[in-house]
Amino acid sequence: MRSTFREAFGCEAEAEGRAPARVNLIGDHTDYAEGFCLPMPLRCETRVLMARAPAFAARSEGHPASAFDPFGPPRGDWTDYVAGPLAELAAAGVEVPPVAVLVASDIPQGAGVSSSAALEVAVIRAALVLAGRSLPDAEIARMAQRAENRYCGVNCGILDQMASAAGRTGEALLLDCRTGTGRLVGVPSTFRFRVVHCGEERRLADGAYNERRRAVEEAASLLGLSALRDAVPEDVEHLPAAVRARARHVVTENMRVLAAVAALEGADVSAFGRLMTESHRSLAADYEVSTPALDRLVDAMLAAGAAGARLTGAGFGGCAVALLPPDTDEAAWWERVSAANPQAWLVRG
Ligand code: GLA
Repeated sequence: MRSTFREAFGCEAEAEGRAPARVNLIGDHTDYAEGFCLPMPLRCETRVLMARAPAFAARSEGHPASAFDPFGPPRGDWTDYVAGPLAELAAAGVEVPPVAVLVASDIPQGAGVSSSAALEVAVIRAALVLAGRSLPDAEIARMAQRAENRYCGVNCGILDQMASAAGRTGEALLLDCRTGTGRLVGVPSTFRFRVVHCGEERRLADGAYNERRRAVEEAASLLGLSALRDAVPEDVEHLPAAVRARARHVVTENMRVLAAVAALEGADVSAFGRLMTESHRSLAADYEVSTPALDRLVDAMLAAGAAGARLTGAGFGGCAVALLPPDTDEAAWWERVSAANPQAWLVRG
């Protein structure tokens, strides 16, 4: 990658930043309700090389080098995910000189495993190295989220950026999205998670995501709460039908995350798996963010012997995650899953 940088920009890279993809094991569409999530980093990652340069320029595999300007308006393409984090760093008082940026990644894009958050976090880390500065992971995550909200125009919560910035390989991260803090939870070796792409890219995701978020905020305000995090199941039943099912998902999902952490700490694969499957059913029926392809994939994962399975991330396409019991013959499991889902493919875990 360093020689590619030299060839592309005619100088040596001065700084590097890396950040992984994530799978969310349970706790989706809870982050913007100040709730709980349980992501875990994947092995695939994004690497960013950077050096001071006469002007801002970025290059990524599959894209020619483009000029960009973090101090100007967004361009509406992938360079916004480089420019936005640099703009946020500058706003926080970190020196941001013109830089050349090279991006390499083996994270599948549009799959729901946080490729954009990994790019934002890796850019911030590289720019901090260049500036001779360091920041806590949670601060890097908040900066990356602000970049996505303000510069890229996506009204996401903190899940993806915290998972990418503060996650550690082999550990799950219990995120409390009210306080913005995370607690690492060890994953016993008997827990084998597999992430599978259903073969359909995420579609119409931004508009539908924002619509779900508005419903959740409306439900909280009807209950006189600052966030649905504080609602209990009985509250939900008093809500108008238009937002009741959405709120029910959020309230029950928060409870499932905390129960799942207890199952992980008790090394109880069956209990964790049951909670995952309940989460999927809730995301499909109450939150309506699943698709026929994701439902078919989850059903096949379960029929082939998974202890639990669910869509992961925002939904509307992309990936599902399964938990395999320790004695699973994985090749036979995958043969059955892929026979029922010929478009599906395994994501590097
Ligand atoms: C996307 C968003 C996250 C989160 C998930 C759903 O990945 O970026 O903030 O809301 O959807 O859990």
